[in-house]
Amino acid sequence: MKIAVAGGTGLAGRLVVEALRARGHAPVVLSRGQGVDLLSGAGLDAALAGAEAVVDVSNVTTTRGSVSVDFFDRAGRHLVGAAGRAGVRHLVTLSIVGVDRVRNPYYAGKLRQEEIVRSGAVPWTVLRATQFHEFAGQLLDGVPGPIAVVPAGRVQPVAVREVADALADIAPGPPRAMAPELAGPRVESLAGMARRLIAAGAAHRRPVLPLYVPGGMSSGGLLPTGTGPRGTQTFADWLGERTA
Ligand SMILES: NC(=O)c1ccc[n+]([C@@H]2O[C@H](COP(=O)([O-])OP(=O)(O)OC[C@H]3O[C@@H](n4cnc5c(N)ncnc54)[C@H](OP(=O)(O)O)[C@@H]3O)[C@@H](O)[C@H]2O)c1
Repeated sequence: MKIAVAGGTGLAGRLVVEALRARGHAPVVLSRGQGVDLLSGAGLDAALAGAEAVVDVSNVTTTRGSVSVDFFDRAGRHLVGAAGRAGVRHLVTLSIVGVDRVRNPYYAGKLRQEEIVRSGAVPWTVLRATQFHEFAGQLLDGVPGPIAVVPAGRVQPVAVREVADALADIAPGPPRAMAPELAGPRVESLAGMARRLIAAGAAHRRPVLPLYVPGGMSSGGLLPTGTGPRGTQTFADWLGERTA
């Protein structure tokens, strides 16, 4: 089956492409290097010709709400429009557990993306997943200075490979609307993850200071509610593999 992967060059996207190929499908990457710009819509119609499903793991790296909303609004509209014209029968969008509970500027864009998919004409699934194991490192990378101030909060991180496998399993099948939330096997503290990364030599050595942030992140808003699929790779396993 021809399945397009929006953001197929990214952290999650590369693994989605691999997982689709391993299942015998024909993934097509939608990215700027492949001549597709989600922000302008350029190249989308040609790339989606003959595609039966689309997995959207595109992203913009920003802490600004206006940038996030602008990206996910324009990219989402272009993708849903082009998928409709191409007769795509399933659009699968990766979102984030707690995106509707935690106030965060980036999440405003993800919520807009979800709204566009849910109100669009293409049959859809939204899979909300928890933070990838890479998340604590990404937080540290974004904090300059001799002390790493990270949000106080608990997460249930998941291996991005397990998220990619779930997306590759869902895409060829029927639309599921809001799929059960996918999370990792264990609850961890963000500050603890950051300290373990530093102790393992995987991040610049400095003290980590957890800071309470209003808006729900520090009070469990990113944890899954209810039951759903759970990954098997723990943060410790992932870190061990990374630093081996
Ligand atoms: N990080 C987490 O913990 C986490 C947890 C749950 C869900 N998610 C979600 O997972 C998704 C993927 O995140 P990621 O970290 O894997 O992304 P990423 O590594 O930042 O990759 C972003 C992808 O989007 C593509 N892209 C960006 N702008 C584009 C444009 N104008 N036109 C076409 N393609 C464009 C990039 O392609 P080119 O640059 O090659 O064009 C790249 O393939 C995001 O939606 C995120 O919200 C993340």
